[in-house]
Amino acid sequence: MASAGRALDDRWILVTGGAGYIGSHVCVELLRRGYAVAVVDSLCNSRLEVLSRIHGICGEKPELFRVDVRDYHGLREVFETHRFGAVLHFAGLKAVGESVSEPIRYYRNNVNSAMTLCQVMEEFGVKRLIFSSSATVYGAAGVPPFGESAPLAPANPYGRAKLMVEDILRDIAQANLEWRICSLRYFNPAGAHESGLLGEDPNGTPNNLMPYVSQVAAGRLPELQIFGGDYPTPDGTGIRDYIHVVDLARGHVSALQALDELEGMVPINLGTGQGYSVLQVVQAFQIASGRKIPYRIVERRPGDVAISYADPTLAHGLLGWRAEKSLHDMCADAWRWERMNPEGYLTAKPLSHAVGHSKAE
Ligand code: NAD
Ligand code: WQD
Repeated sequence: MASAGRALDDRWILVTGGAGYIGSHVCVELLRRGYAVAVVDSLCNSRLEVLSRIHGICGEKPELFRVDVRDYHGLREVFETHRFGAVLHFAGLKAVGESVSEPIRYYRNNVNSAMTLCQVMEEFGVKRLIFSSSATVYGAAGVPPFGESAPLAPANPYGRAKLMVEDILRDIAQANLEWRICSLRYFNPAGAHESGLLGEDPNGTPNNLMPYVSQVAAGRLPELQIFGGDYPTPDGTGIRDYIHVVDLARGHVSALQALDELEGMVPINLGTGQGYSVLQVVQAFQIASGRKIPYRIVERRPGDVAISYADPTLAHGLLGWRAEKSLHDMCADAWRWERMNPEGYLTAKPLSHAVGHSKAE
């Protein structure tokens, strides 16, 4: 049986989806604190160039395994290489609209990857896991600010898959008390690394507000369409809890360090606790960029809630973490990223540096 008998090495952390937007920022925070990092990523929504950028920031980079997390045998090979102290599981598909039109692909990827990962972790005696969940699990059922015990009612397959995985993880933690699992429910990640080397690199036209606004400011898109101006909010536009991606990344390090004190499967919000409207974001971005952002108010987007923001009390109490960066920081860093990388990571190098193959698609 695999590497049973070898001691776990708390220094080695496995990051699935570590080449993606949030995972790459987490890799930086881990490497800077002296952890050794291995990344499992199929690169289905990211580029190899990200690893060089991480090296540019930290002077070192993670070891990359180009493997689909659903590939049981490929994943076992990764676990043979090091005795990981913990796994941070970011890998997954994240476009809400796509999840509505392609539910099978979303459930297959986002649920099966978690199942395969947990199976392999258990086989190798690795029982410390941090999962990327989402505030989308709250849906429209509760009243903001959302605490972790608010009603859960995700409104789309993407959100339901997150909730299913949380349920699976809870069952796993109940069945074997050695597991330590933290499910971090992110509110609205935004911004980029302050170096301008890492940021969000959406495929095609962005779905999310901040990258869209950024591309309008840069003149790549003509105007922002604001989805709804008649919400019951002070200026009529939707309110969200935007959280800087570096704050979010640091929240993962805090969770990793607090994991042993948690019992079972613990969901924890990562948000600032402060909501901003779409118009406030537009105004903040105009100030940070010095550019005018033309916009037009159009119909509401189906499935959107009026107001969503976190009650971040638990994260502070259990993890000793709270967000520190402001909306201005998010806009300034997103704008620096946009200016320095007008084509995202398009300077990508060929995939020859990566090992392994994607077998699960
Ligand atoms: P991302 O698409 O930038 O990163 C995800 C990474 O996972 C990509 O590098 C992709 O190539 C990889 N990947 C996808 N499926 C894979 C698989 N089966 N095997 C191996 N690699 C795979 O997304 P992100 O914004 O960094 O999000 C990371 C996680 O956080 C996701 O689970 C997402 O659902 C969750 N999340 C994101 C947001 C957000 O707004 N960005 C909000 C809440 C939760
Ligand atoms: C923010 C606000 C829009 C675009 C989504 C997912 C959620 C999580 C984060 C993964 C809303 C408005 C947007 C535009 C607009 N992801 N808007 N014009 O919908 O809060 O959350 O990303 O887990 O699951 O649902 O984020 O950035 O799309 O929207 O007016 O072109 O901006 O209506 O009020 P959302 P968003």
